[in-house]
Amino acid sequence: MPRFENADWYDHPRYYDVVFDPDTPLEADFLEDVHAAYGRTGAQRRVLEPACGTGRLLVELSRRGWTATGFDLNERMLEYARSRPLRSPNAKPLRLFAARMESFEPCPPCDFAFCLLSTFKYILTGRGAAAHLRRVAASLVRSGIYVFGIHLTDYSRRFQDHERWTGDRAGIRVVSTTDTWPANRRTRTERLRNRMIVREQIAMGSARSHRLESKWMCRTYDAKQLRALIARVPEFEVVACHDFNHDIHLTREFDDAKEDIVVVLRKR
Ligand SMILES: C[S@@+](CC[C@H](N)C(=O)[O-])C[C@H]1O[C@@H](n2cnc3c(N)ncnc32)[C@H](O)[C@@H]1O
Repeated sequence: MPRFENADWYDHPRYYDVVFDPDTPLEADFLEDVHAAYGRTGAQRRVLEPACGTGRLLVELSRRGWTATGFDLNERMLEYARSRPLRSPNAKPLRLFAARMESFEPCPPCDFAFCLLSTFKYILTGRGAAAHLRRVAASLVRSGIYVFGIHLTDYSRRFQDHERWTGDRAGIRVVSTTDTWPANRRTRTERLRNRMIVREQIAMGSARSHRLESKWMCRTYDAKQLRALIARVPEFEVVACHDFNHDIHLTREFDDAKEDIVVVLRKR
């Protein structure tokens, strides 16, 4: 079987984007619904995305009239985000900068902030996660909304979890598989591995393929641990929870009944 080359999949933004961009319009619809449902009446549309990656959501929101700011620690992701066409005469250019979620300089005044796809779990310490929430709060106006989505951890799970996505765009086909090993309850960490199989058309009738493998760790949360974290940041109150269906009409309890949770926080 062909070998996988060690890589950081975020150093390959184009491949990442081929897989995850197709969901962008629906996720942006949901974010706009959240802003309308829980934000202040008459709030402006200035949005912040910590760990914005390829900028897919910020560009979509900018096309819809939002003033968009984002940051990421990966320069290649940022470069890709900067090169993304806005494709709308009304879209304002994005403001993008390099920073870490746990230590970024707050950037007020924002009305709305979001962080989907369990990205928040990349912050490996409780102190870092609380610092992140405080910095987001400091970026928001009063009654501003922060919405973030994560997979909650079931510490009793004994088996590896396996998720596969595929994407096709302009002669590139990417099959992306992420495995998550059972969490360590004591260290609050879980081990993940992503494997990407990429087939890229380079000329009429000829193609090249890559196999990339990335490994990393995330911090784990069950519902109680996540509630305890939020309680450390009194600047925020929880106003609602949804799930990864990203449907404004589907709310859920803040408990462990389902693994996917999208938490909506409002700045007091
Ligand atoms: C799953 S991707 C999500 C990207 C984007 N938010 C999206 O929805 O497509 C995770 C992103 O988090 C970035 N990242 C990971 N740890 C980070 C940290 N501590 N601070 C800032 N960015 C980080 C990675 O470089 C990557 O772009």
